[in-house]
Amino acid sequence: MDSILVRGNGALSGQIPIAGAKNACLTLMPATLLSEEPVTLTNAPRLSDISTMRQLLQSFGAEISVLNKGLVIAMSSHGLDNWRADYDIVRKMRASNLVLGPLLARFGQAIVSLPGGCAIGARPMDLHITALEALGAEIELKEGYLHAKAPLNGLKGGTHRLRFASVGATENFLLAACLAKGTSVLENAAREPEIVDLVSCLRKMGAQIEGEGSSRIVIEGVDRLHGATHSVLVDRIELGTYMLAPAIAGGEVELLGGRMSLLGSFCEKLAKTGVEINETEAGLRVSNTKGRVKAVDVKTEVFPGFPTDLQAQMMALMCTAEGVCHLEETIFENRFMHAPELIRMGASIDVKGGTATVTGKPQLKGAPVMATDLRASVSLVLAGLAAQGETVVSRVYHLDRGYEFIEEKLKAVGADVERIKGS
Ligand code: EPZ
Repeated sequence: MDSILVRGNGALSGQIPIAGAKNACLTLMPATLLSEEPVTLTNAPRLSDISTMRQLLQSFGAEISVLNKGLVIAMSSHGLDNWRADYDIVRKMRASNLVLGPLLARFGQAIVSLPGGCAIGARPMDLHITALEALGAEIELKEGYLHAKAPLNGLKGGTHRLRFASVGATENFLLAACLAKGTSVLENAAREPEIVDLVSCLRKMGAQIEGEGSSRIVIEGVDRLHGATHSVLVDRIELGTYMLAPAIAGGEVELLGGRMSLLGSFCEKLAKTGVEINETEAGLRVSNTKGRVKAVDVKTEVFPGFPTDLQAQMMALMCTAEGVCHLEETIFENRFMHAPELIRMGASIDVKGGTATVTGKPQLKGAPVMATDLRASVSLVLAGLAAQGETVVSRVYHLDRGYEFIEEKLKAVGADVERIKGS
C-alpha cells in the first residue's frame, strides 16, 4: 500500500485546477442505464471510484470507452443483459447503490447488494427503499441483497416525502421516476449541486423534471430517454479541500474552475477565520498572509449548510487556529476518525458524541498517521502541510478514491509532498 510523505514547507503559491465532481459523476454514470442510446460524460475525474462504477456498469453489459486520459467516458447501454449488482463490487463503494433506481426503471427488476457498513457509519438504505416503493416497487431483503420488482406494467408516478434529505435516495428516486408512468413528486429532496447536475443531464436525455435544487422536485414520466453528452460539474469538495491548503500553510492559491455558489456556507465560514476569498475570472483566489487563523464553530448540515465532506479538512485547520472551537457532525454518526490521527500530530481535540472540541495550537508536529476514510485521509495531508517535520500518511488508497493527482496538484503550489510506493 502506498503512503504519502508530507514535509511542512511554508507558504504556498500558484494555481490548482479543480476536477469534475466524483459525487456528480457517480450518479451521472448510472443514468446511462436509462437509455438505449449512448451517453458521453466529459470533464470526468480520474479516480478509482469512477473505475469501480465503470466495472459495475460493464457487469450489466454496458459498453464503456474511457477516452482522453480518462476525461471522457463514452457509455452505451443498448445491450444490457444483467441487473444484479454483486456484493464484491458494492462493498467497495456505497455509491453502487445508485444503480437500483435506473435498473428498476429499465428492466422492471434489480438485485443490488446492501453496501454493508463503512468507516463513517452504518449508512442503511431504508430511505432509498421507501422512496422507490412510492413508485410501486416491491423491495425485499434476501441474503444481503435487495430484490426489487416493478409492477407488471412498470413503475407508476407517486408522491413521497423523505424523512431526511438523503442525497442518494433523492438520486435513486429521480433516476426511477424519469420513466415511471405519470407524475412523481419528491418532498424534502436533497438540494446538493450534484442533484442539479444530474437533472441537467437527465433533461438533455429528454426527462421532464422541475424544481431541482429546491426541496420539492416534480417529474413527469416519459416513455423513453435518448442519448446525450454532458460535462461533469466541478468538484466542490475537492475545491473546498484545496481552499484549506493556503489557509493552513499560508500563502495564496488560485483554484481554477471554483465558484463561491458551489460551497454554500463553507466560504462564509472560512472567511470568518480571517482567510481571504475572492472570485476571479478563472476561479477562486484564497489567501492567508496573517499566520494563524481564528477558531470558528462549525455544524455540518445538508446543502446549503456546511458540507459534512469538508468537516475533517476544517478540523485540520482548526487544530492550528487561535482559540477553541466546536465542530458538530450532524450527518454521519462516526465521522471523527481523523481526530486520533491529528492528536498524534500534537492536536488538542476532545470528542464527545457528535461534537469535537478543538483547542488550536501554534504548530503541529509531523508523525506517521493512518488514513481511515477518504476525507479523513486528506485532512491528514493538510495538517502535514503546516506541521514541523515529516508526516507519513499510510493507506492512501482511500485518497485515490476522491483526489486525482493530489501530489502533483500540491507540488505545483510549492508543497513538499511525495508518494512512497508501497509493497
Ligand atoms: C452522499 O452519500 C455522498 N456520496 C457522500 O460523500 C456525502 O457525505 C453524503 O451524500 C452527504 O452529503 C456520494 O454522493 C457518492 P446520504 P449518501 O444518503 O447519498 C443516512 C464522500 O466523501 N441514511 O445523504 O450515502 C446515512 O446513514 C462521500 O465523497 C439513512 O439513514 O448520503 C447518513 O447518516 C462520503 N438511510 C445520512 O443519511 C438511507 O437510506 C446522509 O446520507 C440513506 C442514508
